[in-house]
Amino acid sequence: MRLAPATVLDYRELARRRLPRQLFDYLDGGAYEEATLRANVRDLEGVLLRQVVMRDVSLREQSVEVLGQRLAMPVILAPVGLGGMFACRAEVEAARAAEQAGVPFVESTVSICSVEEVAEATSVPPWFQLYVMRDRGYAEELMGRAEAAGSPVLVLTIDLAVVGARHRDTRNAVVGTPSTWAKLGRGIDIASHPRWIRDVPLAGRPLTFGNLERAVPEARSPAAFREWVDAQFDPSVTWEDLA
Ligand SMILES: Cc1cc2nc3c(=O)[nH]c(=O)nc-3n(C[C@H](O)[C@H](O)[C@H](O)COP(=O)(O)O)c2cc1C
Repeated sequence: MRLAPATVLDYRELARRRLPRQLFDYLDGGAYEEATLRANVRDLEGVLLRQVVMRDVSLREQSVEVLGQRLAMPVILAPVGLGGMFACRAEVEAARAAEQAGVPFVESTVSICSVEEVAEATSVPPWFQLYVMRDRGYAEELMGRAEAAGSPVLVLTIDLAVVGARHRDTRNAVVGTPSTWAKLGRGIDIASHPRWIRDVPLAGRPLTFGNLERAVPEARSPAAFREWVDAQFDPSVTWEDLA
């Protein structure tokens, strides 16, 4: 038995044990046969550091300036949708951790905690990530909320015009029209993770999309998120829309 996680892969293993399968697979999975996902991991493993010795490294400076901000190191917490489904008010926790480390946290459009909740819990407001929606008025409203919360940087995500086929979601019956057996299996998956039930659906309420309450009041699952994406994300977006 391991007593303390040391690496990202250790945290992955903890998540695999702690989360219902359908949520872990959303975090861990990729599209189609996951060939790109595997290739990305392989390529990164090929990047090795070259050791240089006999230099004075008593003072090491990792800070960089990005978009007018000084970061303690060249790391940004990328937007992760549905964060609050994995741990209790996870976006707030991640933003606090980022603040402590001196790096930015990016609040996803499809977060559980709203941009206001995250901004109130930290003294450095989050960057805000926006998907381009058909309803431009709603997009403007979201940008206005982020600005009012003090968000200094807008991150525009443009690679989700259509959702890729995620076969794990199909196998977990979170997309499509599941059979009664599949629904039962999904229920057993949830029920066999009591610690998650205690931390998230009980202690981590409300499990709604904090930034989208007006747009998708009932949404609270990867399936609901996908439906909303299909209905709202604008596949016609080009550079012209950026203006
Ligand atoms: C589970 C998961 C959820 C994500 N949610 C969002 C999101 O809500 N908005 C967004 O712009 N990008 C989202 N992304 C993309 C990440 O922010 C990031 O750009 C992408 O994973 C590439 O970085 P990586 O190679 O370190 O994973 C998500 C990625 C993952 C794995």
